[in-house]
Amino acid sequence: MDRTIQLVNSVNDIQAMPNVIVKVLNLMKEPKVNMKTLGDLVMYDQSLTIKMLALVNSAYYGFSQQINSISMALSLLGMVKVKNIIVAVAMKPMMSNQGDKDLWKHSIKTAAGCEYLSQITKIMDTDEAFIAGFVHDVGKIVLHMSSERVYTKVLSAVADGADILEAEENYYNSNHVKTGALLAKRWQLPILLSNIILYHHNPKLSSMPVPCSLIRLVDQLVQTDFKPEKIDKDFLKTIGIDFNDIENLRENILDKAELLIADLT
Ligand SMILES: [Fe+2]
Ligand SMILES: [Fe+2]
Repeated sequence: MDRTIQLVNSVNDIQAMPNVIVKVLNLMKEPKVNMKTLGDLVMYDQSLTIKMLALVNSAYYGFSQQINSISMALSLLGMVKVKNIIVAVAMKPMMSNQGDKDLWKHSIKTAAGCEYLSQITKIMDTDEAFIAGFVHDVGKIVLHMSSERVYTKVLSAVADGADILEAEENYYNSNHVKTGALLAKRWQLPILLSNIILYHHNPKLSSMPVPCSLIRLVDQLVQTDFKPEKIDKDFLKTIGIDFNDIENLRENILDKAELLIADLT
């Protein structure tokens, strides 16, 4: 059996887990979602409701009035933003309980950055950009779950300068874009998301190079050991960003992301 299939099959939890998440992500595919359907989905889960309300009242969204109910959040923020917040909140335990404690933070930073950059560049819908940034590394969860010990080795190889996909191939005979793409297929995620999951390290191979480049750029900008010289100039060109602006852009993104992280932790 293909190694990627084997790995994904071995982590039963991740396949069974994302009930709420998959339902919510799939609601994205329907242009007209019933507000009540979404509201019910959240209210069914009490801790999710509490966290959601804390978040929508946070500085990140900057509403002057207090939001006291999910239905109020829905009408003020809109359906798609609420869906995005649900996913970010609901996926936190699954992401942060695994070996790589930084994965959830990295995902939130990428999500906030993609939302921000798509707002500036107008090359992608901001809400789609948020969720794409959030799920781009979802395949890493499979690798962590399969073996935390082995993933630690991958991370130290990366710290020593190895390419992440090559290091993962070395230790797992697969990598996080393959496991992520298989999850996306099993969860029947929208095509844009599965494409970004599969090609976020190689946007040029994608049939959707522009959104993939946007996610790639933000992915690099939010790295803790960010090095401007590592940024591919072609991506900047594709997105229409000047190299001289990237330090500034990075600061703005990290500031925004911190607001979101502060309210979710
Ligand atoms: Fe990645
Ligand atoms: Fe990433």
